This record gives sequence, structure tokens and C-alpha cells, in this order.
Amino acid sequence: MRIVVIGGTGHVGTYLVPRLVEEGHQVIVISRSQRKPYLPNKAWDYAEQITLDRQAAELAGNFAEQVIRLRPDVVVDMICFTLESARHIAEKLTDDVQLFLSCGTIWVHGHSVEVPTTESQPRSPFGEYGIQKAAIERFLLGEAERKGLPAVVLHPGHIVGKGWAPLNPAGNFDLEVFSTLAKGEELALPNFGMETVHHVHADDVAQAFVKAIEKPARAASECFHVVSSSALTLRGYAEAVAGWYGREARLKFLPWSEWTKTVSSQDAEYTWDHIAHSPNCDISKARQKLDYQPRYTSLEAVYESVTWLIQEGEIRV
Ligand SMILES: NC(=O)c1ccc[n+]([C@@H]2O[C@H](COP(=O)([O-])OP(=O)(O)OC[C@H]3O[C@@H](n4cnc5c(N)ncnc54)[C@H](OP(=O)(O)O)[C@@H]3O)[C@@H](O)[C@H]2O)c1
Repeated sequence: MRIVVIGGTGHVGTYLVPRLVEEGHQVIVISRSQRKPYLPNKAWDYAEQITLDRQAAELAGNFAEQVIRLRPDVVVDMICFTLESARHIAEKLTDDVQLFLSCGTIWVHGHSVEVPTTESQPRSPFGEYGIQKAAIERFLLGEAERKGLPAVVLHPGHIVGKGWAPLNPAGNFDLEVFSTLAKGEELALPNFGMETVHHVHADDVAQAFVKAIEKPARAASECFHVVSSSALTLRGYAEAVAGWYGREARLKFLPWSEWTKTVSSQDAEYTWDHIAHSPNCDISKARQKLDYQPRYTSLEAVYESVTWLIQEGEIRV
């Protein structure tokens, strides 16, 4: 099949494009060509790379036309962040496109009521990013029902892989948190450390996209969580990280207003966003319908990433 991946050189694309090439697909990757995939892979020699700025083309009103001109059987939209962008492309897709996969986020849920959260629970997103992603999902799945648009929305958790900082046990991206735990030094966590984070390895996200493409009849008109098998509490995550380095985590717990004074305002903002959501998502639907089988637990995914960061000298232990 001819598969166009919009935004295919990032976290997910690094794994998705080689997987698709290896499955024998003709893969066309759209990006601004400003960055390279995180990992080298010979498969990239067989993918066609097209330089195109989505935002600029949307402003010019011709992004969807440029995608259609590539004659895709399948379109993977990794970088849709507004309802307008979703409308721009989805309303112009022709019947030749057999599947349109949009990358969402578990942030569409906002505050969950029951956990693990299932896809069928009512959405209550907060924050512009989650609100827009929920609107995109509602629109695409609505178009699927109204007009038979072959849309699928896949919702990853915190994406982890070799090459970038994973979300840490304090709910932000400060690499020092890993060093602190590895050295057995004291780490402050907000509240009781019982709020949750839910990671997924980028290759498992890629796996879910590939499996949805392989099973269009099961995937179309549906949304799926794409996370590891279990979420982590902040304190459990911190204890596990310390354990990797033969340490016992020395944790102290501070009320939110005090804890924020111990970190930068940027880190406090990241942590707030993550623990206010405290995701804990169920993957039974993806397992049953797509045969999604995550290869990594959250801790395995983070361990691989942290090991890579240590080798690169970005984390000192
Ligand atoms: N990161 C997470 O933890 C996380 C969690 C949940 C959901 N998600 C979802 O995952 C998706 C992002 O996937 P990702 O993390 O693999 O992406 P990413 O690492 O941010 O990479 C973005 C890709 O899009 C390209 N790109 C960026 N702006 C572009 C533009 N204006 N026109 C054309 N190409 C452009 C980039 O290449 P150039 O820069 O060279 O153009 C790159 O190929 C989003 O839908 C996000 O909501 C992410």
C-alpha cells in the first residue's frame, strides 16, 4: 500500500516508518526536513521524504490537496493539533483513501472517573491541547458515523524511546531526578507521590499504528488507547529507578504549594499538567481488536531510555 505519514521523522515515526517499509509498503514521509529520525535504520533509504510545511500549506489552503496528490491508500496524521487542521484534511480525503489514522493523546480524558480509564468513558478534557485533541477525535469519529470516513484515532501516553528525556518520577523532564535517585540522594515528590503517569514505548505506538493498518475493518471508526500495560505511581516509579542502581529511594513528600518552590517554574508546570491528569488507561480494546501487545512495560521503556542517556553522558550516576 502507499502510506503517507504526515510528521514521520519524530518519536513515533522513527519506529513507524521502518516498520512500514519492512512490511513492504511504499512509504512517503512529510516533514519540514528540519530534523532526522532519532535512530538510523537502512529502511529510511526506501522511504520517500517530502519537504512540506503543514502550517504554511494550510494557510495557503492547499495542504490536503498536496497530500491527495501523493495518491495514498492510507494516511497517518501524526501532527494534528487543532480541529481546523483535522477538518482541512479530512473533508478533502477521497474515496481512494482506505484508512485515515490520526494520532491523539490520552489527555482527551482530562479527569477520569473510573480507572483504568476505558475509551468509552465520557471526555472531560482540560487545557488547550487536550481540548483540541478531544474535539479532533469527536469530529473524526463523527465523520466516520455520518459519512463513512475511515478514521481511526490512536491515543498514546507519555512516549519513551532512545534519544530523548522520558517523563521522570517527579512528573517532569528534569534529568537530574534520575541522577538523584541513582546516587541515593533525597528526592522531594509532591503530595503523597500517589498520582500516576502512563508511559508507552515509541515502538509500541508504532506497533499499534501498523496493526490498525493491517486490520482496517476492525480499526475504522474507533479510538484506541496506546499505552503500556500499567500506569505507575510517582513514588513506585521513583523506588524502581533507585533500585536499578542498587539504592533505596530516599523520598520526602511535600504539599503541592511547598513542592513547587523546590523546582523551576517550567518543571512545576510540567508536573502539574501530568499529575492533574494522573492517567491510568486501559488497553483491553486495542488488545482485543488490534492484537496490540506492548513489548515494553513502563519501567522497561524508561530503563532503556535512561540507559541510553547515561551512555550519552546526559545523566550522571
Ligand atoms: N510526545 C508525547 O509524549 C506524546 C504523548 C501523547 C500523544 N502525543 C502525540 O504524538 C504526536 C506527535 O508524534 P511524535 O511525538 O512522534 O512527533 P514529534 O517527535 O514531535 O515529531 C513531529 C514530526 O512532525 C514534523 N513536523 C513538525 N511540524 C511540522 C510542520 N509544520 N509541517 C510538516 N511536518 C512537521 C517533524 O519534522 P520537522 O521538524 O523536520 O518538520 C517530525 O517529523 C502528536 O499528535 C502528539 O499529540 C505525543
